[in-house]
Amino acid sequence: LMADSLYIINSFAREYFSNTLFNTEEGQNVGLSYFEERGFTQETIRKFQLGYSLNSWDAFTKTALSKGYNLEYLQKTGLVTVRNEQPGDNYRGRVIFPIHNQSGKVLGFGARILVKNDRAPKYINSPENEIYVKNRVLYGTYFARHAIDKLNECLLVEGYTDVISLHQAGIENVVASSGTSLTQHQLRLIKKYTNNLTILFDGDNAGIKAALRGLDMAIEEGLNVKLVLIPDKEDPDSYVQKIGADAFREFIASNKQDFVLFKLQISMQDAGNDSNRKSQLVNEIAETISKIDKTEDFTRQQDYIRQCSQVLKIDEQGLINLVNKFIR
Ligand code: CTP
Ligand code: MN
Ligand code: MN
Ligand code: MN
Ligand code: MN
Repeated sequence: LMADSLYIINSFAREYFSNTLFNTEEGQNVGLSYFEERGFTQETIRKFQLGYSLNSWDAFTKTALSKGYNLEYLQKTGLVTVRNEQPGDNYRGRVIFPIHNQSGKVLGFGARILVKNDRAPKYINSPENEIYVKNRVLYGTYFARHAIDKLNECLLVEGYTDVISLHQAGIENVVASSGTSLTQHQLRLIKKYTNNLTILFDGDNAGIKAALRGLDMAIEEGLNVKLVLIPDKEDPDSYVQKIGADAFREFIASNKQDFVLFKLQISMQDAGNDSNRKSQLVNEIAETISKIDKTEDFTRQQDYIRQCSQVLKIDEQGLINLVNKFIR
């Protein structure tokens, strides 16, 4: 089967890149030092099966072909590309982050450049194929699933290194959207483990906007969504490395806010004195509230109606009537 072949190749590549990281001079001097400078311990590097790809045209390709792996399948995984009829390595001089499915099999890779520049992308990710469908995957699910189940909460971050640094800090109920906005598939994946989703996003505008886009869908999926904004210029990785595990936990605990109310406050600020935009906003929030499943969680909907009418400075019964219009 095609899928099996791709899994087998990825498993071989994972092992190869890990071996390159630990057992070659370039791997140690370049890859391992990079991870160490970022504060990743050996234990963390091993746990996440991180690796390094040599700065070479075809070191991996040659090894893979000599072991009998099929060129067509190697290309499908994105590990090998053919230029001018010459097959060669796609990831060169990059550190490697394997992307696992829920049972630990490798679906693909993210490969990070060591020094950011304008000529090459920071990360090169596997192309979509029979086993890697980007919008169905959340990075870190395999490592986080037990903690999510036990704590009945899933933290969502943007990047690979956010997941890894939080694990190292002992916060293990965390997965990453890998920089894209959330999809229904990903929300359902989370729902298999918990109804409580806490989004830890960069405090920059792009981070906030990405978070807001996921809201209505998350509510429709019946998730209880909280938000923590990480201070400007930081992400969960840089911030936890900066302030330490205990301070980070405290930061999360005391900055967790309800997502619906957060969105409302932002929108109210945006609307200012514009009465048209304000009434549009009342409609929007009524629609959002109407999506909370009343049969599942009646008090939650009532709480929202009370709190939102206060923020909007409108009559509670008026908001109830409007919400009911959307329910029909
Ligand atoms: N991403 C990507 N391709 C890029 C940039 C980002 O696929 N060119 C994805 C990666 O999954 C990345 C996530 O978006 O982890 C978040 O992007 P960003 O915050 O820029 O990267 P970090 O995860 O913070 O990575 P690093 O700390 O290594 O810079
Ligand atoms: Mn459970
Ligand atoms: Mn960002
Ligand atoms: Mn980062
Ligand atoms: Mn980041």
